Amino acid sequence: MKLIGPFKQIVTLANLSLRGKLSDDQLEIIVDGGVVVNEGKIQKVGNFEELRSENQDIDIEFIKGEQIALPAFVDSHTHICFGGNRANDFAMRNAGKTYLEIAESGGGIWSSVQHTRNASEEELLKTLLERINFLISLGITTIEIKSGYGLDVENELKMLRMIKKAQQQTQATLVPTCLSAHLKPRDFEGSNQEYLNYIINDILPKVKEEGLAKRVDIFIEKSAFQPEESKDFLLKTKDLGFEITVHADQFTPGSSRIAVEVGAKSADHLEATIDEDIDFIAQSDTVATALPGASLGLGEKFTPARKLLDAGAILAIASDWNPGSAPMGNLITQASILATYEKLTTAEVLAGMTFRSAYALGLEDRGKLEQGLKADIVTYSTNNFQNVLYNQGSLKAENVYIDGIKQN
Ligand code: NIG
Ligand code: FE
Repeated sequence: MKLIGPFKQIVTLANLSLRGKLSDDQLEIIVDGGVVVNEGKIQKVGNFEELRSENQDIDIEFIKGEQIALPAFVDSHTHICFGGNRANDFAMRNAGKTYLEIAESGGGIWSSVQHTRNASEEELLKTLLERINFLISLGITTIEIKSGYGLDVENELKMLRMIKKAQQQTQATLVPTCLSAHLKPRDFEGSNQEYLNYIINDILPKVKEEGLAKRVDIFIEKSAFQPEESKDFLLKTKDLGFEITVHADQFTPGSSRIAVEVGAKSADHLEATIDEDIDFIAQSDTVATALPGASLGLGEKFTPARKLLDAGAILAIASDWNPGSAPMGNLITQASILATYEKLTTAEVLAGMTFRSAYALGLEDRGKLEQGLKADIVTYSTNNFQNVLYNQGSLKAENVYIDGIKQN
């Protein structure tokens, strides 16, 4: 057992609701606070001096200078296991080329598939761990990671195995998701339906057998998989015992309905969601995940986060870090910018990157600084927690704790 502190402010996020809008006066801010950690869990959060006098012999980990503490962040949507680089796609897009033109000239998802297939396991693991360490340095200690750049048995398993290997080399929690239904690969001989059957019959049983992922994702979009075949696929994966998440309404509306209908844990993107569907999502337990990094990477509109929250949705905010549409990887910058465009309160943004995104991953043991929860904490050298979003990501995290242990 140990006491960490004193912190100028601790923003616990305690007592904030799982769904709907939040105002900043609902934030619990403990001034001159401390956190008691026991066996990786939070034992108590309170006034530092009071905690110290309650626990006379306790070890104290003193905090240097003025710092504030927040629950560490949860990035519930990434594609950080990949080979290659798509800087040329970005430049071509900005020079006015269309998605199709870029794909035809060798870019797009298919180019990442080729680079990922060609990458050795060592290379893939090395770059994956570098990205994980970058995210930890931002205060992100739980990271969802998708496959989806392999698109055949051998390479999808290679990606998921590297994610599993990475888990043995990091203290962060990695949550793998099988996204074999990202796109029908160009070298697959058969229809979309046949490729989806191939995932069900040839990929998912092996994923299950090796314990590589408990979640399945699909990209429902005109250029990828169509609504009806996707719904059928998702119901089958559900029968196999997988949790579901969906890339929904990125450019074309409608697929968020399917996500809700099949009971998906989350529907992610939603940039093109229409008003009627906002209410449909908001009345469900499916988390609506905004991915501002994709809007910034593509120059497209933002997810209607304000409308979703006002309608009562569970809104998470994740990075979508991938080589194509969202190359930045800085969730804090992205969420801060989403807040300025969508008019989100600090409480809503912090909730979206912590306990609400944790809920999307089925991890209800984290995301608030409350008794019994995982002691994952991020601190900043500042005396005002508002500076974290105000500085739009340029205020660097000072210390990152996982299970109460300082990582840096
Ligand atoms: O979430 N929308 C589909 N998939 C990714 C992009 C993947 C890529 O372009 O490589 C996304 O934005
Ligand atoms: Fe994505």
